[in-house]
Amino acid sequence: MSKSLSSISDLSSKEFETIFKKIVSFKKKSKSKLKGKSIGLLFEKHSTRTRLSFEVAISRLGAYPIYINRSDTQISRGESINETAKIFSLYLDALIYRTSKQKNIRDFASSANIPIVNALSDEEHPTQVISDIFTIREIKGKSKLRNLKIVYFGDGNNIANSLALIAKALNLNLIISCPKGYEPSNKILKLAGKNLIIDNNPFTAAKNADVIYTDVWTSMGMEKEEKKRLKAFKDFQVNKNIVKLARKDFLFMHCLPAHVGEEVTQDVLNLKNSVVYRQAENKVYSAMAILDHLLS
Ligand code: CP
Ligand code: NVA
Repeated sequence: MSKSLSSISDLSSKEFETIFKKIVSFKKKSKSKLKGKSIGLLFEKHSTRTRLSFEVAISRLGAYPIYINRSDTQISRGESINETAKIFSLYLDALIYRTSKQKNIRDFASSANIPIVNALSDEEHPTQVISDIFTIREIKGKSKLRNLKIVYFGDGNNIANSLALIAKALNLNLIISCPKGYEPSNKILKLAGKNLIIDNNPFTAAKNADVIYTDVWTSMGMEKEEKKRLKAFKDFQVNKNIVKLARKDFLFMHCLPAHVGEEVTQDVLNLKNSVVYRQAENKVYSAMAILDHLLS
């Protein structure tokens, strides 16, 4: 079985270091050896940044991106994931896969003999947080990373889970500030151990933060809960009152797309502390580094 990236837990701290180094060299335009490879992209949920950044990354690596429309495949007529994974492995060298269930990614990875890269599931968004932690490290410096107070505001969702797992792998200080009942699962809390603190008070969480990260309160597929969530999360909006408690040189981060006026206000997105576009730009180089790592 090939090495896949289903979860942040699939990579060791040494591998993160290798990937971060590769991101730096791809930013300096280093060449890769993926010429002639064919890489599929199967997206069962909407995407702007992840799909485009992977397509561009694959082209820049000299490989060939093939976008697969699920409804055009036999999966939509009932062919199993296991069978599809075996067939994909005959034609492709890797698959970038966005789906609603983490189980689909695990099933794909267990039947395929090519790397499967999780491009977002209900449980995780590993490629996003690799790029985000790289972005923090790039701006604040590698030696500072471990001492930063990184605060995530909002839902204990796929982004929060992947941040919690990478905090564990790299020994970072992560605080998740969320309403009671919206924490990551017990499994994630246990895996993250002492590298994750839950703070249900947004004001103490924001105090002296070096990084404030947020994501939507209602993720894709949860639209039915939107009304309830707007009410539950209202005190966790990242606005001027929250960010004034952070350090002067704090970074504001968001994986995007943002629901402006809900989890973040426009004035915070416009601050010079906001690095949301740097995050989005780094997704191309991170995608290159991840693919190069998995396929070399
Ligand atoms: N951040 C992110 O994954 O964005 P997309 O949903 O546009 O891919
Ligand atoms: N938590 C969000 C992330 C989007 C990139 C979602 O799953 O919709």
